[in-house]
This record gives sequence, C-alpha cells and structure tokens, in this order.
Amino acid sequence: LALTGVLLALSTILLAACGGSPSTLDPAGPIAGRESNVFWLLLIIAAIIFVGVEGMLIYSIFRFRERPDSPPAPQWHGNLKVEIIWTVLPAILLGVILFITIQGLFDVAKEPEGKTVEVTAYGHQWWWEFYYPDSKITTADSLVVPPNTWVKVKLFSNNVIHSFWVPQLTGKTDVVPGHDNVRTFKADKPGRYTGICAEYCGVQHANMRFDVVVTDNFDKFQTWQREQQAAAANPSSDLQAKGKQLYLDQCTTCHGIVGVLENYTGKEDPTVQCVNPEKQNGCLIGPDLTHFGSRKLIAGGVLENNVDQCQPGGDLSNCNLAKWLQDPQKVKPGNDMVIGQLSKDDIAALVAYLESLK
Ligand code: CUA
Repeated sequence: LALTGVLLALSTILLAACGGSPSTLDPAGPIAGRESNVFWLLLIIAAIIFVGVEGMLIYSIFRFRERPDSPPAPQWHGNLKVEIIWTVLPAILLGVILFITIQGLFDVAKEPEGKTVEVTAYGHQWWWEFYYPDSKITTADSLVVPPNTWVKVKLFSNNVIHSFWVPQLTGKTDVVPGHDNVRTFKADKPGRYTGICAEYCGVQHANMRFDVVVTDNFDKFQTWQREQQAAAANPSSDLQAKGKQLYLDQCTTCHGIVGVLENYTGKEDPTVQCVNPEKQNGCLIGPDLTHFGSRKLIAGGVLENNVDQCQPGGDLSNCNLAKWLQDPQKVKPGNDMVIGQLSKDDIAALVAYLESLK
C-alpha cells in the first residue's frame, strides 16, 4: 500500500512537472488547497511507512544474511504479539486516514458564505456551456468569474455523464443527467485556469476542455457581464456584412446570435429548457455566437481564439477559426458541427464577422 502510494505520488509529481499542464499540487483557491493538503498529509504518512518498512527489509537482508559458518536459522511458527501489532497498528492508521479524508470531503462540500456567483455548467458532447441565471447570459468554453468570490456551479447534462474538473481550483465532480450536482470553488487571484472533462464521454472526451477566466476584480466581472448582455454588434464593413449573411444562410439551425437571428433572445436556463434535447430557440444545440469574438477558446477548448491571426484582409493560414470553419471534422472528428464546403472568400467573410462580435 505504502509503496503504491509513494509511486503514485512520484508519478503525479513528475507528470505535474510537465510544462504547462495544470497541477492539483499548485492550488489557486481554498477548495483545491484543502484537497492538496489532504494529499500531502497522506503522502507524508505513506512515505514514513515506506522508508520504515523498506529500511527494515534492507537492514535485515544485510544483518541476517547467510555466512559460511552460520548455524541454521531458528524456525518460528506464529507470534501472537507481532500479529496483534501488525493488525492493530494499520487499523488505527487506516482509521486516521479515513477521518482525515471524510473531514476533507465535508469541508469542500460546505455551503459557501457571503456573496456567491451562480453558474450552470452544461456538459455537451464535447464542449462546455456556461449559463449565468442572474444576468441571463450564456458563454462557451470559458467560465468567467470574479476573484475572491465563491462560485456555485450547478452541473447539468442531458446526454451522457461528464465530470467537471479544474485541477488548480477544485476536484472532479460528475455531471450526471437527471441529477443536479453542485460544485463550489473560489479563486484567490486573477488568471486563466485549465478545466478538463474527467469522465469518459465519447470519442472527443480528451478534447472537452475549458478554462476558468478569473477577472482582475469584481467590477471587471460586472463589466464583462454587461457587455455579454448586449445584442450583437452590427457589421462595420462589407466583408462583415457578407459574413453575417452567410451565418443566416448556413448556421442558424444550431447557433443563435442575439439581435440577428429572428425571435432569438439568447439561450435560456438549460436545466429548464434543455431537459428534452429538442431544437428550440432557447436551447439551440451549438454555442451562442453573440459575443464570439470575446472568447479565448473555440471548438470546445481545443483551439485558442487567436484573433491576431484572423485579421480581415490578412493571411488566415494560422487563424484557428478559419481552420475550424474549413474542416471542423478534421480538427475534432465526430463533433456535431456540420458545414458545407466554404470558399476561401466565404471563410474570410465569416471570420471577419464572427471575430467582430466582441
Ligand atoms: Cu465530457 Cu468527457
């Protein structure tokens, strides 16, 4: 047990050292901090046992090794004292570990106090959508939250089981259809933290990513909310206008843009609207695009929305949105995005329009 624990811990530390991957050992909030404290405590206990057991083993190998003139080893059968010790001690130790673990579980499940931001995280196959019931805004791939504020995430799915995990902020919580799990967390400082789907949910499970964007302060979060509440910007060039028309011709079965798609006022609470996966305006199957250009990630977190490479009139060969529109099935095989073959000019127009939607 101790050996497995230490090996696991070592591999975790080694894996965590790989460049850029989010680590549970680098917590950025109280929930992840609590979790990582439990981890370190158990690791230290396991390490002490490991060193003790292996130390005695190595000592015995040398101290009691066979020598040319050594007498035959004494033959023992049973030793009540030793057997009691090696049964009772581990039982006590496991009891302590159980206590530490359960205490940690209750701590991270506590109802947060003070100001709380509520969000519903909707697990699709294979991307995350975030709905803010207070401001009635919806975004995709990025969960934007203020710093030093409890965030209460209601986890919703109407398809298969996913799992919501932001290693630096909070441990995994399953997203189960028909069962509203809740996960709370708080981020200590501004920044971007990687989120991952941690329950196998289909062919693109590994590419079901998101990030938690923690704004500089609460005011910036409110400003962001107000911007997201506005209708889409009007096209300011012929290219953008052409893109808007292409959107209306090709994309409206799945994607809504407030102020552009008729009778569409934005997505509504998915836990009410999307329980039956019917295509209705409040619950279109694709991400809302009203503020597409303000997003940091696209395609379910697989691609950065690298706006600087997507400038109108410029070379779009490194523009991720252009790559995505060109052949979404190549970028992320099996996803629901269906789009007709677009010409280079069409893609340029769509990129110009969508990136203008800040
Ligand atoms: Cu969603 Cu794995």
